[in-house]
Amino acid sequence: MQSNSRSASRRAPARASGLPSARQSAIDHLWMHNRGWAEMAEQGGPMVAVDGHGVRVKDGDGHWWLDANAGYVCVNVGYGRTEIADAAYEQMKRLAYFPGGSTTEPAAALARKLATLAPGDLSRTFFCSGGSEANEGAVKIARAFHKRVGEPGRYKIISRESSFHGALGFSMWLGGMAGRPRTDYEPPPPGLIYAPQPNPYRFERYGRTPEEAAIRCAEAVEDLIRFHGPETIAAFIAEPIAVPPGVAVPEAPYWPMIRSICDRYGVLLIVDEVITGFGRTGKWFASEHWGVVPDIMSVAKGIVSAYLPLGATIARTEIADAFSGVGKNKYLQHILTYGGHPVPAAAALKNIEIMENERLVDNSAKLGRYFLERLQELKDVHAIIGDVRGLGLLLGIELVQDATTKAPFSQDARIGERLTAEFEKRRIVLRPTSGTFWVGPALCITKDEIDELVNGLDGAIGQVAEQLGMAGRRRS
Ligand SMILES: Cc1ncc(COP(=O)(O)O)c(C=O)c1O
Repeated sequence: MQSNSRSASRRAPARASGLPSARQSAIDHLWMHNRGWAEMAEQGGPMVAVDGHGVRVKDGDGHWWLDANAGYVCVNVGYGRTEIADAAYEQMKRLAYFPGGSTTEPAAALARKLATLAPGDLSRTFFCSGGSEANEGAVKIARAFHKRVGEPGRYKIISRESSFHGALGFSMWLGGMAGRPRTDYEPPPPGLIYAPQPNPYRFERYGRTPEEAAIRCAEAVEDLIRFHGPETIAAFIAEPIAVPPGVAVPEAPYWPMIRSICDRYGVLLIVDEVITGFGRTGKWFASEHWGVVPDIMSVAKGIVSAYLPLGATIARTEIADAFSGVGKNKYLQHILTYGGHPVPAAAALKNIEIMENERLVDNSAKLGRYFLERLQELKDVHAIIGDVRGLGLLLGIELVQDATTKAPFSQDARIGERLTAEFEKRRIVLRPTSGTFWVGPALCITKDEIDELVNGLDGAIGQVAEQLGMAGRRRS
C-alpha cells in the first residue's frame, strides 16, 4: 500500500535529554515498513508521531500535521477518541484475555453486531488480528468448505492484478502490485490464478468504453474458471474497489456479473472489505453499492479504527453451517491466540457506537461527494492531473505526463518523491510512491478540513507541475 513510513525530510536532530530520542532508537533498532534505515538516517530519521486528534497528528517537534490517509486508511473515527480507550481499559481491568475456544462478552456481542451490519446473511464471524489474517482465514474457509460439501478438488483461488490482500504466507500472493516484486519470497504456493482488474480510467486494454471493459473483465473471470475447470476453483477474491490502481471504482455491470458467474460455477465469492468497510465509501460496506452479498467477507482497519489490532472473516450462514456438525472433521481447524480477544472487541463495539451516533457513514458519503467536486476543480486547473475518482472518502488522483494519451510518468521523473516533499512542506501526511495515489481521511473530517487538504493538494501538485515544466490548465 501507499507507504506511510517515509521520513519527513531533514528533521531536526534528536532531543537533548539523557535518553536517546525515539528517532535515534528507531534508526538503531526498529524495522520499519518498506524503508532502509541507512537512507532514513541520512534524511534525519522518521517522523515520530506523539499525539493525535480528529484528522491531525502531532510530531515529536510539536508540529501538527493533517493526516490525509488516516494512518493506512484505517483510523475511521479519527484520532484521540478517549471513549474507545476507556472501553478497552475497562475491559482490560475486568478480563484482559481469554482464549477463543470459549468466549467473552465483548467478542460475542461484536459477532452479533457484525451480523446485523453486514450485508445479507453474512452471519458468523471468526476474529483475528488484521486484514492479512482475515484473508488467510477466508481462503482456508473456502477450501475447507468445498471439502465438506463433497468437492475436494476445489483449491485454486482467482484474484486480480493490481489488488492487495495482505502480507502473510498465502495472502501475499493474492493480487499483485506494480513496482512491488515478490521475487524475494518465491516460490509461490500452487493454485494461484490472476484475472484482469476493471479500471474505468485505463479501460482501453479491454474495451471501447469503461462499461464494456468492466463486462470483459467479468467475462475473463468466467473464461478462467472454464479454462482451469470449475471443479478445481475454490474462490474468487477481490476488493469491491481496488485501491492500488488509484481507487478503481468498477462500472455498474461488473459486480452483479461476478456474483452470478461465481454462483453459476459453484465458486465462492470472497470480498475483501478491509479498506472499504465501516463507512469508508459512504455505506457500511462497499459491496452494498452494487447490492452484492459475498459468501465470505474480510474486514479489519475501520472495524476498530485501528485503535487496537483486529480483523474478522465473516461467512454466510450456509457456508458457516458446513462447519457446525459434530466431529473432528467438521469444525474449522484454525486457532489464533488473539482471535476473539476481548479488549479489541470492546474497543470495536465502542468504535461502531461512535460511527452510529455521529452518523459518520453519512458524513463519508456527503463530504466524499464534496471532496470529489473540489478535486474535479483541481483537474481543470492542472493539466498534469489525468483523473480524479472515488466513492465516499476513498478518493484517487492520477497524475499523467500526457492527459490525451494518459501516458504515466517514468520512474526518472521521481513523482512520488517530489509530491511527498511538497506535502511535507505543507504539513500534510501523504506519501505517494508514484503519480497514482489516494486520499482516505478520517470520516469525521469537516468541510473546512477538506478545503485545507484541497488547498494543500493544489499547491503541491502545482509545484511539482512547475518543476517538470508542465504547469498550466488543460486545453479543451
Ligand atoms: C484491501 C486490503 N486487504 C488486506 C490488507 C492487509 O491488512 P493488514 O495490513 O491489516 O494485514 C490491506 C492493507 O492495507 C488492504 O488494503
